[in-house]
Parts: sequence; structure tokens; C-alpha cells
Amino acid sequence: MRKQIVAGNWKMNNGLIQTESLIADLKRQTKVSNAEVMIAPTYTNLWHAFQSTKQTEIEVIAQNMHYAENGAYTGEISAGMLKSIGIQTVILGHSERRAYFNETDEALAKKVDAALAHDMRVIFCFGEELSDRKAGNEQAVVESQIKNALFHLNDAAYKDIILAYEPVWAIGTGETATPEQAQEMHAFIRKTLAQKYGNETAESVSILYGGSVKPNNAREIFSKPDVDGGLIGGASLKAEDFFAIVNSF
Ligand code: 13P
Repeated sequence: MRKQIVAGNWKMNNGLIQTESLIADLKRQTKVSNAEVMIAPTYTNLWHAFQSTKQTEIEVIAQNMHYAENGAYTGEISAGMLKSIGIQTVILGHSERRAYFNETDEALAKKVDAALAHDMRVIFCFGEELSDRKAGNEQAVVESQIKNALFHLNDAAYKDIILAYEPVWAIGTGETATPEQAQEMHAFIRKTLAQKYGNETAESVSILYGGSVKPNNAREIFSKPDVDGGLIGGASLKAEDFFAIVNSF
């Protein structure tokens, strides 16, 4: 049985006071689904968020990290540093990292290796741009993003890999992939994994959908057989909306 996961990517939002208050609001919510719940605050609030969610079912995760262990990489954070404060899971390859910080598939492959070497779980993000979809190239783009960054791994590594399909045209735009579009792509991703690693591994990997998931569309998207949860941006910044999505399973 694949894990169902709902992860809130807070992106560059919320200082310390807002982080405290949003976590307090999250603690007041009731979880009635079996989904694992994760939140990804910004670096400066990770330690605080980790401490204040210790007695809860909420896992605090990181939004990014560098592939090197340590050294002269001003402004960067390593897997070892995240682990040293208790963080077990990291988001890698978000389209905003790819678009604004020039993250390439090659750099992402190194980041994935570094996270796995530290026994961390990775939420690996990918997805096509609108121009790719208009040209009918969405599957080819997604396939190459996955192959370039992940296909050097052995199948055992996939116990720590969570995939997140986030079509760039649906992020923060209010435009969501239809549940059918999401299902079609998720099934394609699973088939791509199966061709390389076999059915058992492909069936075990959770594939999340991200891109304008809201309380009013989550249930339909999550009802699709190959959609195992969501990576939530805007709607994760309001505790009630986020938990309405968590409870959509
Ligand atoms: P939105 O839910 O705001 O579209 O963001 C999705 C996302 O990028 C999550 O990582």
C-alpha cells in the first residue's frame, strides 16, 4: 500500500511570528484521513517548527539543500546540517528552483545522492511548462527530468523517493490540471518507472500532484488511482484550507 502524503510548501513566506501562529493553527485542526502531513517552512524557521511540532503528526521538511557536505558555498545548507536539527525529508527540484536558480538535472542528481547518503527522504519535483504541453511534449519532458536525475539510482533507493508532478502552468496560477490530466501523467510516470525498475518498485512509489490544489478540488484529484497526495503551495498557508485538503482522502 502506497503512502498518501499531503505536504505544504510554504516557499518564501512567514517569518518567525507567522510561523508560530500558523503552527498553532495547524495544531488545532483534526486529521481524519490516513495521509502523512508535512510542512516545509523556510530555513530560518526549520528548527523552531521542528521543535514545536514534536508531539504532533506533522513532519517538518526542508525546501532545498546543497549537494556538498560543507565548505565554501556561501548561503547554502547541506543535508548533514538538516539532519543535525532532525529534518528527515527534503524537497528537491522544485520548478522555482529550476527556473530562478538555474538548477539542472545534473545538479539535482547530485542533490538526490547527497540526501539519500544521509538517509533522508526526497520529494523530487518535476513538470512541464505550458509551451511543452501546447506542443504535446509534456510526457517527453517529464520522462527526461526523471531519467536524468533519478535513473542512476538502484531500485532499493526508491523506498526514500517520493515523486511530485507539478506542471509549471498550474503553479500559483489558479489553473489546475484536470483530475484526468493528472491521472494520465501519473500513470505515465509509473509506467516509466516500471520499465526501468519493474512493477513492484513502480507500484510502491508515492506520486504527488502539485499546482493550485485547493479544498474544493483536492477530493477529485486525490480520487484518481495513481495520485497519492499533493504538494500544496498557496493553500498550505491557511491551516483550515490545508487540513481540508489533508482530509480530502
Ligand atoms: P500552488 O499550490 O500555490 O499552486 O503551488 C504549488 C507548488 O508549487 C507546491 O510546491
